[in-house]
Amino acid sequence: MTSSTNGHGTNGHESNGHVTNGTNGNGAQYLPGSLWEDGLVPEQTIPDQGLSAQKRTYGSSGIGVHDLVPKLGYREYWYPALQLKQLGKRSFRLFGRRKPVQANIMGQDIVFFEGKKGPDGKRNIAAFWNRCPHRGAIFTPKGRCEFDGTISCPYHGYTFDETGDCVAALTEGPESGQVGKMKARTFPTAVVRDVVFIWMGQTEPVPIEEDIPEEFFDPAYIIDTYRTVWPMNWSLTIENSGDNHSSYIHRFRMRRILNLQSFRQDMAYWPGVKVVEQTDKSIAFKPAGPAPHQVYYPGLGAKWPRHTWWRIMPQRTNLLGRNLHVKPFSHEYRLPSIARVHGSGTGHLHMRWATPIDESSNIHFSFGISHATNPLKRLYRKLYLRFWYRTFVVKVTNELEDVPVQRWDRLDPTAPQKLGANDAPIIIWRRRLPLTSRDNIRVWKKGVKIEASEEIEIQETREPVAADD
Ligand code: FES
Ligand SMILES: [Fe+2]
Repeated sequence: MTSSTNGHGTNGHESNGHVTNGTNGNGAQYLPGSLWEDGLVPEQTIPDQGLSAQKRTYGSSGIGVHDLVPKLGYREYWYPALQLKQLGKRSFRLFGRRKPVQANIMGQDIVFFEGKKGPDGKRNIAAFWNRCPHRGAIFTPKGRCEFDGTISCPYHGYTFDETGDCVAALTEGPESGQVGKMKARTFPTAVVRDVVFIWMGQTEPVPIEEDIPEEFFDPAYIIDTYRTVWPMNWSLTIENSGDNHSSYIHRFRMRRILNLQSFRQDMAYWPGVKVVEQTDKSIAFKPAGPAPHQVYYPGLGAKWPRHTWWRIMPQRTNLLGRNLHVKPFSHEYRLPSIARVHGSGTGHLHMRWATPIDESSNIHFSFGISHATNPLKRLYRKLYLRFWYRTFVVKVTNELEDVPVQRWDRLDPTAPQKLGANDAPIIIWRRRLPLTSRDNIRVWKKGVKIEASEEIEIQETREPVAADD
């Protein structure tokens, strides 16, 4: 089961960027409504240049969203799946049976339920493939947690403990030979900060500290967790966090009107990107320098933004007069699907972690992270993160402005793309980080780490590397 649905051997690496005739090279459809891969984009020729319209328009960068990035995500990592508070609920508020919880993760249907209490009073969280090993019935939504730390299949009532063992075949009697012989397919889990993490990889899980950012293990940090589903490929959710779309798409953002930031001068654009740090699992970057809040565009014969008369306050600077919009490490991408934005002057970290559901949706975890040790400051930060940040940054700005532009039926990630200077981190995200990913080291190349010299060849051929070759 693992390899057949793994997402690498068969569908993880189709190349998009070299398709120039409107047909899909391998015949596989990517998304419903994918105009490019469906072959619905007509070929046009521009006579004076001898180029196809597609080539001219898109410039044939050859670096599409899924250039090397797997469509269903990297599997050899821990991912947040759900919040602890979603588990252990009863059918009705005060009575009724406890219900298991279902989630689709990386194309697989998973059921979660609470195991028995351990010596520390905490419960392990069980994660099973959502199919009963007896005759394949689905555990949710009709299955129940009738007995402490177990799940019972809704069909014949075979009951499994948190390790996946069948502990009772209720309709076959106490002497049933199935008990002790049948096992549900389980996935490793861990709970950190009341978030349930799951390991979907086909190799041994790493210690969870390797994948979860350091703030989660430091009690001086407050973390506000918000979970929702974003209707787009997981990789777009990450790329959206680091590209500079803000001065255009969010130009009318509500929170900046409410906190008066709209009356402040802001950078109209990013004059390129400076990469300030790169590791095997991350890239940190910031705008290459400051920029004016309004600028003349010769191609338009006009200035943009067109009107700025209400920006009566100067750009934000620190005490040394340094522009806060260009402070180091303002953006970061981390494997497998983490984007971090360090707030300019606000002292808090806006972190996104996208858990792939399928090719066109992901579980979007938003973590508002703030460092505070003083009890009063902690209270203020908690309220700030819960009410201001979650409402005006995540919901009003991200969900109402970013998502409508990027959702699966509005942005076709299979169309060829032409990347520019501000897209440099995205190029690294699509080309370099896949090569240093644990999936590449452990599975795609079976433990062989690809060196930079091999990168060119991989860029050219982009052959899928099957898990079992
Ligand atoms: S199919 Fe689940 S108990 Fe029979
Ligand atoms: Fe945005």
